[in-house]
Amino acid sequence: MTQTLLRGRLLTFHRAPQSGDDRAAYTYLDDGGLLIADGIIRDTGPFDTVRAMAPDTPVTDHRPHLMMAGLIDTHIHFPQVQVIASWGAQLLDWLNTYTFPEETRFASEAHSQTMARAFFDQLVTHGTTTAVAFCSVHKASADAFFAEATRRNMRMLGGKVLMDRNAPDALRDTPRTGYDDSKALIADWHGKGRNGYVISPRFAITSTPEQMAMAQALAAEHPECHIQTHLSENRAEIDYTKELYPQARDYLDVYQSHGLLRDNALLGHAIHLEPREIDALADTGAHPVFCPTSNLFLGSGLFDHGGLTARGIVNGIATDVGAGTSYSMLQTLNEGYKVLQLQGQSLHPLQAFHWATRGNAEVLGLADRIGTLDPGSEADIVVLDSAATDAMALRMDRAGSLAEELFVLQVMGDDRAIAEVYVNGVSQKASHAPQRSRPP
Ligand code: GUN
Ligand code: ZN
Repeated sequence: MTQTLLRGRLLTFHRAPQSGDDRAAYTYLDDGGLLIADGIIRDTGPFDTVRAMAPDTPVTDHRPHLMMAGLIDTHIHFPQVQVIASWGAQLLDWLNTYTFPEETRFASEAHSQTMARAFFDQLVTHGTTTAVAFCSVHKASADAFFAEATRRNMRMLGGKVLMDRNAPDALRDTPRTGYDDSKALIADWHGKGRNGYVISPRFAITSTPEQMAMAQALAAEHPECHIQTHLSENRAEIDYTKELYPQARDYLDVYQSHGLLRDNALLGHAIHLEPREIDALADTGAHPVFCPTSNLFLGSGLFDHGGLTARGIVNGIATDVGAGTSYSMLQTLNEGYKVLQLQGQSLHPLQAFHWATRGNAEVLGLADRIGTLDPGSEADIVVLDSAATDAMALRMDRAGSLAEELFVLQVMGDDRAIAEVYVNGVSQKASHAPQRSRPP
């Protein structure tokens, strides 16, 4: 058994902070210790206490940096690594002009494998240790995604998108092939290593009612699998959906009437909701996912986090690369703060960092495994440097509290603020480049 002891400042959440003063919602230690063995956090506490339990274990000292659970991204598109930063369009034009042509390239196994390596490199570089990803329509893209996740021992969720209309020929499956490929992928990957399969009807516009019925069958046969799709992101999308599904009471009803709403269902965007849709989200426990950089980039609208939360709905937060403009969950929290500011909702930094860690883990039903530094959790850890740039260091000179430091990380931080990442207890810097030595 290989043991490691990490030393540093330490922050972990026990529940969502009700306010900035909600001290019981988290543990913060100025000098913390994390004892890791075989990919699991075995002990968490003041360094001296943890040290006493493991006197001979080698120590990696991350002081003065801050150790937190690895960041979790609950909505991202793997085949869009070369779509990010495509100019000038709103959702439907953006899909047709940039995204669909690019996704056709993932028919190639070799291209999918090359892009999977690049995609996972970006996640790790930005401190993201778990993501929920849409692959392309091609089975090869999902095979490449899960093979790479397995190679890196990362807890990853994903699925091939189901799409059988309103897309180029090379990007369409059929109700039958979509079902069969999803079944094969579930058999090959779900529960293997740290992988989870996600049943992924892309959105109402690209699936016929026949395909939605097949998604319903998949969902019923695999209650253990998550479901992901898109909901009410853009006005033109909503109008077209209502044309395509005239019998649906509203957009959400397309999914609801096909049995796709449950507490492990994730609905990207969920911006322009009607009262009945909000009731249905609250009743089913399905989770909207807020994608602020994407919503601003595509001009989609402002997500009503406060309004949905007041109804007892638990929202995820995510990058949505490639409509999202950064892989960084720190930058996602930054833009999220601004979107909420525009609606008079102030996101406190403690709530923000809870959201990107334990909050997203709870949305996924995985808070017993990821999202905290509790003993028994998987050792996915990010080490944050709040003085990573000169501008941050200058601001940090005047920061007097943990909350202020977190807000500097949130507003000014990006991949440069990620000092180290551990995946399943393994240092990602050490496995890619020599680690900087630090004085004891
Ligand atoms: N709706 C359907 N597909 C997509 C996608 O790839 N990105 C975004 N932002 N919205 C979508
Ligand atoms: Zn998306």
